[in-house]
Amino acid sequence: MENVITIDGPAGAGKSTVSKALAARLQYVYLDTGALYRALAYKALKHNINVNSSAELAELCSTTDVTLKNIDGKITVYVDGNDVGDKIRTEEVGLAASTISAFPVVREKLLSLQREAGAGGGGIVAEGRDMGSVVFPDAQFKFFLDANIEERIRRRRTELIQKNGPGGLDSVSRDMQARDHQDSQRKTAPLTVSPNTIIIDSTSLDISQVVEIILERVSSRHA
Ligand code: DC
Repeated sequence: MENVITIDGPAGAGKSTVSKALAARLQYVYLDTGALYRALAYKALKHNINVNSSAELAELCSTTDVTLKNIDGKITVYVDGNDVGDKIRTEEVGLAASTISAFPVVREKLLSLQREAGAGGGGIVAEGRDMGSVVFPDAQFKFFLDANIEERIRRRRTELIQKNGPGGLDSVSRDMQARDHQDSQRKTAPLTVSPNTIIIDSTSLDISQVVEIILERVSSRHA
């Protein structure tokens, strides 16, 4: 698929920051697919839905309207007509998103939305866990962004301190390990390196170095 760049990888590897910067540099739209799972998880938590019950999640999926709108190049998620905004950016919602994302009914609901976002041909950077393996297997460029777990925990802690101050850091390590396990061991669309994917280990790289590595790859294959 022309003009489709996928970036997969575990939580805390820097995917969002890198993808945003890359999309801005290439003037592509940016699709954060984790936001879709987070948005559904947020609604589930708010309505006391059991995130481990496939029957309750099936009901949630059939009664929830999820839409995507392109606002200034950033694709924004709307749930039942409302922009979910930053409320979905907590560790609690991230972990619940990871839990519900293992259920096929949830993945099926969100699959066509993601593909439609990439169908325009105008260029997209799509970030998540199964972008290169399931959603856009024929993407022009596929990357897997990794970093060791200690570094990913350190980055997530720094991010949380910047947002909320020093509280609530105890669970970061536990939550990250739980997410790694859930996201890579699930049966449906697990986190995996799909064929024709370039792996980048960002453990000792900063964001701009990763962006430059990706841009070099993209421009050398375009040339
Ligand atoms: O990227 P993120 O941390 O915002 O994603 C939250 C959770 O959503 C992640 O732990 C697993 C799930 N997810 C997924 O299963 N597939 C994707 N393409 C993106 C996210």
